[in-house]
Amino acid sequence: MKMFSCFQNFRFTSLHSIPARTFSLLKELAYVNGKWVNANSRSTFPVLNPVNCDVINNVPDMDVSDFHVAINTAANAFETFKKTTAKERSDLLRSWYNLMVTHSEDLANILTRENGKSLAESRAEIKYGNSFVEWFSEEARRIDGEILQAPIRNRELLLLRQPVGVAALITPWNFPHAMITRKAAAAIAAGCTCIIKPSEDTPLSALAIADLAEKAGFPPGIFNVLTTSIRNSAAVGKELCEHPKVRVLSFTGSTAVGKILYRQCASTMKRLSLELGGNAPYIVFNSANLDIAVSGAMASKFRNTGQTCVSSNRFFVEGRVFDEFIEKFLKKMNNEIKLGDGSKDGITHGPLIKESQLKMVDSLVKDAISKGATIHCGGKILSELGPLFYAPTLITGVTKDMQIYNTEIFGPVAVINKFHEEEEVIREANNTPFGLAGYFFSQDISQVFRVARSLEVGMVGVNEGLISCAEAAFGGVKESGLGREGSKRGIDDYVDIKYLCIGNIQH
Ligand code: SIN
Repeated sequence: MKMFSCFQNFRFTSLHSIPARTFSLLKELAYVNGKWVNANSRSTFPVLNPVNCDVINNVPDMDVSDFHVAINTAANAFETFKKTTAKERSDLLRSWYNLMVTHSEDLANILTRENGKSLAESRAEIKYGNSFVEWFSEEARRIDGEILQAPIRNRELLLLRQPVGVAALITPWNFPHAMITRKAAAAIAAGCTCIIKPSEDTPLSALAIADLAEKAGFPPGIFNVLTTSIRNSAAVGKELCEHPKVRVLSFTGSTAVGKILYRQCASTMKRLSLELGGNAPYIVFNSANLDIAVSGAMASKFRNTGQTCVSSNRFFVEGRVFDEFIEKFLKKMNNEIKLGDGSKDGITHGPLIKESQLKMVDSLVKDAISKGATIHCGGKILSELGPLFYAPTLITGVTKDMQIYNTEIFGPVAVINKFHEEEEVIREANNTPFGLAGYFFSQDISQVFRVARSLEVGMVGVNEGLISCAEAAFGGVKESGLGREGSKRGIDDYVDIKYLCIGNIQH
């Protein structure tokens, strides 16, 4: 089959075809030190709508020299920002949050255009992303230190929590709004200044929220967004890792890239927060409420058309309920998924983000078919809908020699296996270098605690397929990363603990 290449075939869309209400937040310049700027080189790159590969906008293609300027700017701004009170930072975040709520519909429209997810999903992401700003505006007031019990008389011992410095935030295309707010709101609450490098596929959401940060009164230099094409990404990533003035780097993306950044950050001993790939097991035990398990499977598997780190990647269903689960799941997939242009009414799911994703998903399914797996629905590219659509797919009969069994699929493909013993399924669920999320469904309370404790993951959904929220600690174990985002722990990556020993106090 001849593959459509977005990059070879993109078309420019007249801005007149974009609803006027999105204009105010649709930006064409990067945001550095409180100013809207071009790249030093004046180069730009196009941002494409994955529904049809039309060009939405061109943005600056910033390189290492632009990042140098921004890092120095953010480092200078830090000298003042670190002295602000927690209340001042809380108020700033609250103003930003209020503006994001007011502009939610515009933000959702931009997100749907550049990412392809349906408007319903974009609205949910904007609400989710905004909730981190609200949460950290509240947490900012609680970045307290500690007073310790001194082991020696005439001494007072204190722990202070102070901002780390400049934070580099490298964010992905699958949640272009929420992955920025989850990192940046925590960093700003702590008193850090930020350099944000959004994915080259989805920089427009980042620029839109920079516009709202400016309107919220953020001082120059504390929130910088630099757009970069794939051509410059690796060099810019290296610069962010190796520049001594950047003190913490937070990245959400693949484990392969996370490992490169981890190595590069060693040179300056940077604080690191890494939210990397997953390979989530989704286990349905005989005792499960099957309707709840099927609804959870729909939400977990097909959120963002399967392009989610916490998406269920390997389904394991116990023998007695296997056939009924498949039947109910297939029926729901058929009835509830409507693929198409996400900006249109009634569409629930959009295309994949780019050709490389589409090719990867297609080749995993083809490999499984060639080795004897059974396709119950889908299993093909839907070029009649557009260049990047893949059919929601359900596969059984998958064996360990098939690539799909061992790979993070990142697409709308559910791989379902049968199991017979609890011990066997836990062994298999943990038989992966990854450990981000895991899900299981059971009405047996002893089993709930046994299995929850045994799964080697950072997050567990029990009788629940959608578990993310601002209050929860998001993060993985093993090769799924380091650190936690959201929750009261989300601040930890952006503060240093300083020990103070005050001696010779006269009593
Ligand atoms: C991700 O897929 O990277 C984030 C998903 C979430 O926050 O729930």
